[in-house]
Amino acid sequence: MLKLQNIRKHFDGKVVLENIDLVINTGEIVSLLGPSGSGKTTLLNVILGLTKTDHGSLIFNDTDLSRVRMKDRGFNIVFQDYALFPNLNAYENIVYALKNKKGLITEKEVQEYIEFLELTPHLNKKIGELSGGQKQRVALARTLVTKPNILLLDEPLSALDGVIKESIKQRIQSIAREFKLTTIIVTHDPEEALTLSDKILIINQGHIAQYGTPEEIMHQPSNDFVKEFIIGQLQIKRRNIYHLFGEQYA
Ligand SMILES: Nc1ncnc2c1ncn2[C@@H]1O[C@H](COP(=O)(O)OP(=O)(O)O)[C@@H](O)[C@H]1O
Ligand SMILES: [Mg+2]
Repeated sequence: MLKLQNIRKHFDGKVVLENIDLVINTGEIVSLLGPSGSGKTTLLNVILGLTKTDHGSLIFNDTDLSRVRMKDRGFNIVFQDYALFPNLNAYENIVYALKNKKGLITEKEVQEYIEFLELTPHLNKKIGELSGGQKQRVALARTLVTKPNILLLDEPLSALDGVIKESIKQRIQSIAREFKLTTIIVTHDPEEALTLSDKILIINQGHIAQYGTPEEIMHQPSNDFVKEFIIGQLQIKRRNIYHLFGEQYA
């Protein structure tokens, strides 16, 4: 279980996160959802240990990690731009972080992740030769082979579209289920959050607007911001289609 208590963070005199309380159970998929600039990436980096908080605590399985450095927390992240090394091939990228970590994972387990993500045919390709979805899968594999206790993903789907997006979404879900891996995903898209997660944390200007299951958020939005942001956006999509093609497509 991951527990955040009263997290606050400011940058240059501007408060970016305040009063963040959050409990995430082991194996849950949780989305951090909010508009651009609401503090989602900052919160993800706070959990990772990359960003220091002003105050507040972060407890993982009864251990206080608030003052524990990033590399000792045992979490890992897929950054929004993937941050892959262009001069290395896919396989070299995947195993890069294992250089100084002998014994963390066997070659057989590495191969299992590679097969799970269907990357075997692409291992010798340079990053520039891969499609968006393939890059995303390499980035996922590279993070998973470090066997993180929590998987953090910053906007993993926003650079993808259509069928590829749907397939990466399903893969993220099956990874979380198969490995009982707590997974925290940043997104600005209500539809993504609603279809992907067990729970959604809605952030508005650094404050929690609501934390609940997709059902709770849809049926019992706790305030106008949630109503506008979630239901408003979905209705706009629906209305646009309706106006163009008629009621049967709405
Ligand atoms: N390193 C930083 N230094 C100064 N301001 C920052 C830094 N990182 C983020 N911010 C500011 O904090 C706010 C929240 O940013 P961010 O967490 O990236 O939002 P989101 O991921 O929801 O779009 C923004 O106003 C952003 O400009
Ligand atoms: Mg962000």
